[in-house]
Amino acid sequence: MENRVTIDWDKIDQIIEKYNRDQESLLMIMQDISDIYNYMPPETLPFLSRKLGVADTLVYSVASFYKTISLEPRGKFIVNVCTGTACHVRGAEKITEALEGSLDIKEGRTTADQMFTLEAVRCIGCCASGPVITVNQDTHGGLDRSSVLKVIDDYRQLET
Ligand code: FES
Repeated sequence: MENRVTIDWDKIDQIIEKYNRDQESLLMIMQDISDIYNYMPPETLPFLSRKLGVADTLVYSVASFYKTISLEPRGKFIVNVCTGTACHVRGAEKITEALEGSLDIKEGRTTADQMFTLEAVRCIGCCASGPVITVNQDTHGGLDRSSVLKVIDDYRQLET
C-alpha cells in the first residue's frame, strides 16, 4: 500500500528543536511525529538520523521495535481486539472474524480509506466485560458479532 503524505519539514524540525536535538528523546520525537501523521513516515527517518547525529540503523531499529510507532500508514480509528484468555473464551475469535469481514482487511492491516486499523492485543484489564475491543481511547465490552459491527458503524458515521 502506497499512501504518501506531504511532510512538513519545518514542523519536524520544530519537534526536534523542542527536544533540544537530544538523542535520548528519539522515541518521544518519533511519537510526536506519529501524532501528526498517524504513523511515522519512513522518509523522516534519515532526517532524524542526520539531525540528531545518530546512526540510521538505530533510528530504524527504534521505529521497528516499539508497537506505538508504525512505519505504515494507520487508520484514523485503531481497533484493538483483546485476544487475552478471558476474551478468547468469551468469543474474541468471532469478534475478529466479524471485524475482518466488515472492514475487508486482515488483522494487522489498515483499510484502503485509512479509516480503520485492526490489531490484536493482549489483556487490557477488563476481563469481566469480555469480549472487549478498544477504538482509540474508548473501550467496548460484552460484544457479539452484531454489536461489534454496530460499534464500527457508529465510528463510520462519525466521519460521514
Ligand atoms: S482477557 Fe480481554 S480484557 Fe482481559
